Amino acid sequence: MNAVAPVLETRGLVAGYVADVDILHGVDLTVEPGEIVTIVGPNGAGKSTLIRAVIGLLKPRAGAILHRGDEIAGTKPHRVVARGVGYVAQRENVFATLSVEENLELGASALGVDAKPRLPQILELFPRLRERRRQRAGTLSGGERQMLAMARALVAEPDLLLLDEPSAGLSPLFMDAIFDKIREINEAGVPILMVEQNARRALAMSHRGYVLDLGRNRFQGTGADLLHDPKVIPRRHRPHRRVIRSSHRASRLCDRLLGHCARRSGRQRNRMEAV
Ligand SMILES: Nc1ncnc2c1ncn2[C@@H]1O[C@H](COP(=O)(O)OP(=O)(O)OP(=O)(O)O)[C@@H](O)[C@H]1O
Ligand SMILES: [Mg+2]
Repeated sequence: MNAVAPVLETRGLVAGYVADVDILHGVDLTVEPGEIVTIVGPNGAGKSTLIRAVIGLLKPRAGAILHRGDEIAGTKPHRVVARGVGYVAQRENVFATLSVEENLELGASALGVDAKPRLPQILELFPRLRERRRQRAGTLSGGERQMLAMARALVAEPDLLLLDEPSAGLSPLFMDAIFDKIREINEAGVPILMVEQNARRALAMSHRGYVLDLGRNRFQGTGADLLHDPKVIPRRHRPHRRVIRSSHRASRLCDRLLGHCARRSGRQRNRMEAV
């Protein structure tokens, strides 16, 4: 371990699933101690692929992945997690048939860690889970399940937390709760690398951010700089505050750069921009 090295660094990362088809074409990224770093980009840009390569679910074809200065590219996921990297996947990130408590215990035992002494602290951070500790995870609401997935990752006391779309599919209320938790976890000293479709919210709370497009670095900067860059986040139209028409250049950039815009139908998008 190198005390002055970034918590995480990827250099020229190339990865893909199918032979001869690269999804990442040389991605560079850094997470420094204490930071929240957000990756945004359209659907299919390779955001989840990047996170999967870091955690070891996908072996890179070229480039480097350094965790605190040590090369970890191609290292098995359980070894990466044992090094201190926590991971919350985009989907299916809890065991639906197990209780909240069992999920937390299993998360820890997979790493040879005893969850019991850590549980009170974890449940203090997530009071909703404490109330539901005997409830089966499959019966939790989407937001509660997302909190459980985060809690599972935290049981192992990671020194870096990877979150793939933590607010996906959540109601505005739960979204607020999840973003508050992410901030709280970071303020407790855990650096965070997250992928988020909710680019405005995520960049507003991030120290730095990256825009990925077609598996390449497109833009990068402080969260505030990206947030105020119309090439990344289209300006809202005022005073009309109505429609960014599909023919409008900003809307096309929005479609291109922010997958969440592309996902919505025209009418939904117009409604979203009017908020
Ligand atoms: N297991 C897989 N096998 C083959 N191709 C895959 C696999 N997983 C993802 N891909 C492809 O890799 C590309 C990047 O996918 P990825 O999931 O990284 O995108 P993303 O930026 O996370 O998108 P989203 O915003 O929709 O989550 C896509 O074209 C996708 O079809
Ligand atoms: Mg994804």
